[in-house]
Amino acid sequence: MKKIFAANWKLYKNPSEARAFFAAWGAAASVLDVTNADIFFFPTALSLEATSQSLQKSSFYFGSQNCFFETEGAYTGEISASHVQSIGAAAILIGHSERRSLFNENDQMISKKVQLVQKQGMIPFLCIGETLPQREAGLTLKVLSEQLKQDLEHADTSKKLVVAYEPVWAIGTGKVAEPAQIAEAHLFVKQQLKELGFENVAVLYGGSVKPEKASELIQIPNVDGFLVGGASLEVPSFLKICQA
Ligand code: PGA
Repeated sequence: MKKIFAANWKLYKNPSEARAFFAAWGAAASVLDVTNADIFFFPTALSLEATSQSLQKSSFYFGSQNCFFETEGAYTGEISASHVQSIGAAAILIGHSERRSLFNENDQMISKKVQLVQKQGMIPFLCIGETLPQREAGLTLKVLSEQLKQDLEHADTSKKLVVAYEPVWAIGTGKVAEPAQIAEAHLFVKQQLKELGFENVAVLYGGSVKPEKASELIQIPNVDGFLVGGASLEVPSFLKICQA
C-alpha cells in the first residue's frame, strides 16, 4: 500500500500565504519519490482555490477540512462537498476531533458526511480517536470501535476511504502516543474495518508528528502514513516528514 502524508493547516495560511508555501514547496519537493507516497494538503476553505491553482499539473492532492452533509440549500456559512470537488479536490477531512469537540459534530452527522464525500467521488479522511479520560478509563478500543461503526454506517465499502487515528490528547500537545499504543490502535482499527467490510483502507497516525519522530513512527506495523498539523505549516518540516 502507498503511504499517505497529509497536511492539515487548520485555520492557518490565507490565500497569499498558501501560494507562497506552494512556490517554496514546488522547488523543494522534487526530492520526493511520489511513486511511493501520496501527499495531500488540507488548507482553509478560503485558500482552497489558491491551492487548486498552485497544485495544477503537480502530483499532489488537496481537499477541504470539512463539508456540510447536504450539497446545497439554505445552509448559511457551510461548505459544499460538490463545490470543493468542482475545483479539483480529491478528499475531505471528516470528523476531526476539533470539529467534534468545538463544533458539536456527532457521529450521525459524520456518517452522512462520509457518505456524501464518497458519492461526490472524493476520499473521506475519517478522523477518530479517544480523549485522555477515555484512555485512562481503559475505553480506547471501545471508543474506536463505536466511532468506526457509527461513522461508517452509510459508507460504501466499494469506494475509497482513509482513516486517521488521532488520539485527542496527542493533537497539538507535543505529546506523541507511544509506539505500542499506536501499534495496538492501528491493528485494532484495521481488524474493525475488515469486519465492517472495508479492505485496503490506509490508516494514518496523527497527533504531534514531528520530523525527528517520523521515520520511527512510520516503521510501526499498520501505520500507513500521517495526518500532520503544526509540522505541516513549514516546507522543511513537512518535507522531512514526507521523506520518512
Ligand atoms: P498536530 O495536529 O500535528 O499539530 O498535533 C494533528 C491534527 O490535528 O490533525
